[in-house]
Amino acid sequence: MDYPKKIWVNGRLADPRRPAVSAYDHGFLYGDGVYETLRVYNGRLFRFDRHFQRLKHSARSVRIPIPYPGKTIEQGLYRLLEVNRLQDTSLRITLTRGPGPLGFDPRPCRSPSLVLTPGPALRPLDSLFCRGIRLAIVRVRRNARTSLDPAIKSTNNLNNILAKMDAIRSNAFEALMLNVEGYLTEGTVSNVFFVSKGTLRTPDLACGLLAGVTRDIAIHLAKRRGWKVAEGWFKPKDLLTAQEIFLTSTILEIMPVTSIVDEKKRVHRVGAGRAGAWASLLEKDFQDLVSRETGAVISKKKEGRLTNGFMG
Ligand code: PDD
Repeated sequence: MDYPKKIWVNGRLADPRRPAVSAYDHGFLYGDGVYETLRVYNGRLFRFDRHFQRLKHSARSVRIPIPYPGKTIEQGLYRLLEVNRLQDTSLRITLTRGPGPLGFDPRPCRSPSLVLTPGPALRPLDSLFCRGIRLAIVRVRRNARTSLDPAIKSTNNLNNILAKMDAIRSNAFEALMLNVEGYLTEGTVSNVFFVSKGTLRTPDLACGLLAGVTRDIAIHLAKRRGWKVAEGWFKPKDLLTAQEIFLTSTILEIMPVTSIVDEKKRVHRVGAGRAGAWASLLEKDFQDLVSRETGAVISKKKEGRLTNGFMG
């Protein structure tokens, strides 16, 4: 693995090869923490405020106080970009319960840990966008909202990891999980959209999924184009008969799905088997928005570079 020069641990720059948190940190021991993944274009954080808002929501839901104001965290992220000389990348904010005695009781953990880390350098994903990816509807069900609400961006990711392992077995890039009632929810690190009968559709937040920052942007851009958008309760057959499918996430932006594996492991082609018209228009609008907000110049010809481990 390639380490960055520096990471940011509780207010200080640190060597990423050294342990950042205690072996007694409940984040390490129990997955007791929350996180955010943000994107940097042209050296500028994209939608920091929106990600920080979601971090606050996650932290409040599991009652971990955030030890620094948003401004300090934003400055820490910019400091990381500077010392690591990064322009186009992703950054992660991880907040954990902090060190304490063994056992689930969170009360003795009095100093939460906050760690900022760069992800790998990212370049535009044009070639992957054109080819599209394979999505597998997996058997692993998304955590119920009444168990571990997927609206909390928790570092406790075993549910997603088991689903991802299922997808890998089907030779797919991403897994699509159903909720316990059998309705579509989301991917392991992405939200899903599909087009049918002239309407852009996506699972309702009430189905149990993360309120993706990119999902919100896609809905907003689609409505601005005058498209009909429906958030609802959908079944696998709705997806299998869709004219187009795409995923959204901070890392994938708008990513077409060109083949889909059903629950019986049969492979189906989606639409014409390449990026569809709706996804292409939205991706263009998305790139325009990124350029407006960050000044990034988007090249149309660059090769995509993304492995199957596309974050989390
Ligand atoms: N993943 N659903 C899940 C379970 C996610 O983990 C993510 C984000 C999304 C998309 O949300 P957004 O558009 O805000 O990135 C949906 C990030 C990229 C990650 O885990 O690294």
